[in-house]
Amino acid sequence: MLSAKLIFGTDSPAIRESRVATVQCLSGTGSLRVGGEFLARHYHEHTIYIPQPTWGNHPKVFTLAGLTVRSYRYYDPATRGLDFQGLLEDLSSAPSGAIVLLHACAHNPTGVDPTLDQWEQIRQLMRSKSLLPFFDSAYQGFASGSLDKDAQSVRKFVADGGELLMAQSYAKNMGLYGERVGALSIVCGSVDVAVRVESQLKLVIRPMYSNPPIHGASIVATILKDSDMFNEWTVELKGMADRIISMRQQLFDALKTRGTPGDWSHIIKQIGMFTFTGLNTDQVAFMRQEYHIYMTSDGRISMAGLSTRTIPHLSDAIHAAVTKLKAAYFCSDGIMGAVRSLLLADRSECLLSLDSTVIKWPS
Ligand SMILES: Cc1ncc(COP(=O)(O)O)c(C=O)c1O
Repeated sequence: MLSAKLIFGTDSPAIRESRVATVQCLSGTGSLRVGGEFLARHYHEHTIYIPQPTWGNHPKVFTLAGLTVRSYRYYDPATRGLDFQGLLEDLSSAPSGAIVLLHACAHNPTGVDPTLDQWEQIRQLMRSKSLLPFFDSAYQGFASGSLDKDAQSVRKFVADGGELLMAQSYAKNMGLYGERVGALSIVCGSVDVAVRVESQLKLVIRPMYSNPPIHGASIVATILKDSDMFNEWTVELKGMADRIISMRQQLFDALKTRGTPGDWSHIIKQIGMFTFTGLNTDQVAFMRQEYHIYMTSDGRISMAGLSTRTIPHLSDAIHAAVTKLKAAYFCSDGIMGAVRSLLLADRSECLLSLDSTVIKWPS
């Protein structure tokens, strides 16, 4: 119940009216899986729509839970922002009653969130089509630095009195990754339904892992119950979020100072732990090979892993990747493959002059 209050708000009507069934789960992943299994067993529609792209585990978790996974457009690589039109079109053509996975805040991997106004339009569309929201909150407090602000999307949906599922993780915002503490809450239409849902959730959990471990959950409960500790936690969370925001600014400034080609404003516009840099797989491979910078091949970097000390190295690497590989793109397609392999091979043997567009070809 403490978890439900944290995400829905202490004054949430759904909690006051006892319409929420909450079970402790194994972090965010376990909460998603239990929710997925419950839906596969008891809900009439088995299709779940997930954003494109999304956290890599989502399709696996829901497929193994017995749901059919489809995707809806979310990210527009051209603007490095939200493909809002595409999102609305795809949700409009989803079958009535379908489940829709929504990242509550700090979308992983893109760092792109809808504005409050866009959330409102999403809510209206979903409710008009009876689409069932399944919120995933892995970063509450980590995005803006405010627990309440990061829960605004969810609270909008709860306020309309409709049903939804909510998966919460304490892995990042309480630094309890190894303890696997999380919660699944299902907001129901009535007390009677909530009671039955809770008993069915227990029947899903019992044969999977019987019951969750106590230790991590008691740390969370102690902090949430004690007002001094709670306040201390919110100050620390704000410190973390502000540091990430400052890393964004520093990286943006460093690229600007270097005159790196391209518009890098998405670095400061995106939110949360991750930045979807827009670097392509070749540029990512180049940075790994030449600068020993490791990121996912889709160009996602964790801002939390950066510091003032490491930003110059990262900026140098991005600058080199963008300028040098861009130069290569001026070549014809046929040469492109050769250029790529040269760039990724041992540099000392390269026949391509990386600092100019001149290519010395073997005689
Ligand atoms: C969007 C999203 N959901 C869920 C999770 C799962 O988190 P946990 O480690 O709590 O299982 C993550 C973790 O990376 C995530 O990014």
